[in-house]
Amino acid sequence: MRILTFTGKGGVGKTSVSAATAVRLSQLGYRTLILSTDPAHSLSDSFNLPLGAEPTKVRENLHAIEVNPYVDLKENWSEVQKFYSRIFMAQGVGGVMTDEMTILPGMEELFSLLRIKRYKNSGLYDALVLDTAPTGETLRLLSLPDTLSWGIKAVKNVTKYIVRPLSKPLSKMSDKIASYIPNEAAIDSVDQVFDELEGIRELLTDNLNSTVRLVMNAEKMSIKETMRALTYLNLYGFKVDMVLVNRLLDVNEESGYLEKWKGIQQKYLAQIEAGFSPLPVRKLKMYDQEVVGLKALDQFARDMYGDTDPADMMYDEPPIRFVRTKELYEVQLKLMFANPSEIDVWVTGDELFIHMGNQRKIITLPLSLTGLEPGDAYFQDKWLHVPFDLNSHKEHRAPNRYEKELG
Ligand SMILES: Nc1ncnc2c1ncn2[C@@H]1O[C@H](COP(=O)(O)OP(=O)(O)OP(=O)(O)O)[C@@H](O)[C@H]1O
Ligand SMILES: [Mg+2]
Repeated sequence: MRILTFTGKGGVGKTSVSAATAVRLSQLGYRTLILSTDPAHSLSDSFNLPLGAEPTKVRENLHAIEVNPYVDLKENWSEVQKFYSRIFMAQGVGGVMTDEMTILPGMEELFSLLRIKRYKNSGLYDALVLDTAPTGETLRLLSLPDTLSWGIKAVKNVTKYIVRPLSKPLSKMSDKIASYIPNEAAIDSVDQVFDELEGIRELLTDNLNSTVRLVMNAEKMSIKETMRALTYLNLYGFKVDMVLVNRLLDVNEESGYLEKWKGIQQKYLAQIEAGFSPLPVRKLKMYDQEVVGLKALDQFARDMYGDTDPADMMYDEPPIRFVRTKELYEVQLKLMFANPSEIDVWVTGDELFIHMGNQRKIITLPLSLTGLEPGDAYFQDKWLHVPFDLNSHKEHRAPNRYEKELG
């Protein structure tokens, strides 16, 4: 199943671009599902049709959903919520507060993503289009499984080895203490959700089938935010294959008092094309009315894709490369707009940590590199290079865990 995710700053036209893409895909014969994970839905406004939490038919080959995050949350998280409620109750906090406090920010949308796997497994669709909430939220959302999975491994082990054996004797203690021990159902529920999220992350970072497209306007703030978004998406291994610049005034037409805007847009457009190269930059014009309803979306899609198939890989370059020469092994990571001074790189065991701003990426290293210290990381042509000198450390380094196991 081809997955196309559209993201960008608030109001730039994500929903319209997603909906138009879905319409085009369905016309080309792809059985298409468009799913909005933005809690402030506007997909139904875009299609001018009432939509619900289950697929509604929009036209031949096209279904649409506006996920109800609270339903999905209840389904997946209620055992965990019950557990936290007990803790809060024991501490004298109750009522609505406990419900609010057991949901991390962004989590509602995270649960919406669990549906992706369901629809992939159903075999009912060839293409899935994701219309997401504005950039910040979505990035946090998409990176959450990666950020959490590291911590979760530790938590899982603790619950497995300490909590489970202890939960029996402790349950004989006071209710208050017992309430701090998560029950099996809560632990299983956490386990299950994180296993599922791991699966979703794999689907979304599967560079053969899944790509992200960035929608923006030719305005300073929109560009800045999109640059940041791209860097983080790169960091997390999502493949971005296209940039769409929406709402451009036609340079060949008189724009009245917006004439000055035209110049500003053209200036930023040149910056976008230079900065985001070699990613293809698609230019979308500002229409004289809103893009609402199937007819308008069809026209929007034709202007957007012409004769090309929206499901094509518009740019095909994996964001992570492992390069090996005789002397050197390099892990290379494309980070389009990263600031080198903000990046920290280190290795622990067989894991390479790349820290950037408040985000962290963990790359599991190939066996041959475990135990080696990385050399000085450097930037070249938008790629972060982390070199490992295969010879220099061999004599001095401590045996790695595989060698230890082998004696
Ligand atoms: N190229 C365009 N020309 C004219 N109107 C447009 C264009 N693109 C989008 N619009 C209109 O702008 C409004 C906002 O677009 P849309 O809802 O697609 O943005 P969004 O990025 O999804 O917003 P949000 O961040 O709120 O989800 C809609 O009314 C849409 O019809
Ligand atoms: Mg939208």
